[in-house]
Amino acid sequence: MTIETRSLSDSEIRSVAARLDRPLVLVGMMGVGKSTIGRKLAQLLDLPFRDADDEIEKAAQLSVAEIFERFGEAHFRDGERRVIARLLEGGPSVIATGGGAFVQPDTRALIHEKGIAVWLDSDVATLVERVGRRDTRPLLRGGDPKEIVARLKAEREAAYSEAPIKVMSDAGPHGEAVKRILQAISTWL
Ligand code: S3P
Repeated sequence: MTIETRSLSDSEIRSVAARLDRPLVLVGMMGVGKSTIGRKLAQLLDLPFRDADDEIEKAAQLSVAEIFERFGEAHFRDGERRVIARLLEGGPSVIATGGGAFVQPDTRALIHEKGIAVWLDSDVATLVERVGRRDTRPLLRGGDPKEIVARLKAEREAAYSEAPIKVMSDAGPHGEAVKRILQAISTWL
């Protein structure tokens, strides 16, 4: 049974925004909805939204897939860490990170130090359904997406679980996850 999440009132949302002194950093698997949810969350909190993958692409003038192809994953992770370090210096905001960012120890340490990590989680079936909508993810090329997503999720869960806030983003509308995040942060702050 899905329990309807209570919506925070406008003044409660304003109070959350006023208490935030650091970026909120969305972490979790590809396909969980970090970018869509992050954009909505930022809009409600009246904060800037930054998508780390978009910023990496802008800085490199290449797509994420092209960076993986030409220079390899280690090079991508290095750029990802530097871009996230820069975004974390920008004051309160909402930052969506790529699925592997919080798994990298240095990047995770930076996020712990300068931001508030929010782990968005979904079951494997929902993730697979969502990643199937786009063919832009290099880690899913050349294999069975269900097998890859299940393996990465299992490998990464220990890192993700270090986030102080965890919210489920299941098959329902993303607005529900946004409400859950607001409620969780309001309690946590
Ligand atoms: C990755 C996830 C992608 C992107 C890159 C690597 C990963 O971001 O950063 O393809 O390691 O899980 P999304 O989580 O936005 O798909």
